Amino acid sequence: MLVHIKELFKEGVTEKFAYPAFNTQNLETTLGIIRAGEELDVPLIVATTEGTISYAGLETIFDIVATLARKAKSPVVLHLDHGKDPEQLKRAIRLGYSSVMIDHSHLAFDQNVRDTKEVVEFAHREGAWVQGEIGRLRGTEDWVSVSDAQSLLTEPEEALKFHQATGVDTLACSVGTVHGVVKIRGGVTAHVDLPRIKAINDLVPVPLVLHGASGVDENTVFGAIENGIRIINIDTELRIAFTEALRESLKNHPEEIDPRHFMKPTIEAVKEASKLKLKQFRTRNLLN
Ligand code: G3H
Ligand code: 13P
Ligand code: ZN
Repeated sequence: MLVHIKELFKEGVTEKFAYPAFNTQNLETTLGIIRAGEELDVPLIVATTEGTISYAGLETIFDIVATLARKAKSPVVLHLDHGKDPEQLKRAIRLGYSSVMIDHSHLAFDQNVRDTKEVVEFAHREGAWVQGEIGRLRGTEDWVSVSDAQSLLTEPEEALKFHQATGVDTLACSVGTVHGVVKIRGGVTAHVDLPRIKAINDLVPVPLVLHGASGVDENTVFGAIENGIRIINIDTELRIAFTEALRESLKNHPEEIDPRHFMKPTIEAVKEASKLKLKQFRTRNLLN
């Protein structure tokens, strides 16, 4: 079922687990993610970025994810990830996204506050939640390539000031992880600053979001959750699962010309990769 993000947090936060926010770009990835949630009977967040929206169209990707979510046996939240354009975020909220991220973390603090606050005021009137970001992660997104020199770990006091000034409902912070495939291919190493997560969590009273979490080992994930992370964003690991399955499928069946046949293994691969993450994020004792 399609649920509002607030449903995930209505009983308060627990140190036992974090919800995954899985990025999708297409039908097959969405099917894999949602089937993983159904098989394990756990809630999850499906996220679309502005890159995906310009690839597929806002209404199209919304309809694909929302339709599958409504039919799902387990709860699914729809989130817009790394939004830069406040007007697009407003359109997404009107369409039915219950959660959007305004990521103006690359701008000066006061500008980030102003832009985030504008989206929060609109979203709250419409009943949606907003994720803001303070600090900057290394790595690449559609829009930017952030180098070591430009990255900025989140300062706990600044995170508090940002939350108080904007009223965001969830907060992405930079604690050492890196966006994109670069860390998996060995280009950079992520060091997750657990005491920093704890210090932010002690001050900021909303769920904290860990971006760039693909490739982060299980013990570090447990540590992040124990110290206050409540949502964990995964994109790259699912992209890899999808792409490897597609390459294999095309290689094994060079004669195949029916996309429904050669794409099918991608759904299964994304499902298995999502299940792995879902189990990891729900701690040692909730699932096997
Ligand atoms: O952090 C989010 C994504 O991994 C970047 O996704 O290429 O769709 O912007 P994108
Ligand atoms: P990864 O590139 O590590 O999967 O991070 C995804 C992310 O942060 C999406 O917002
Ligand atoms: Zn991210």
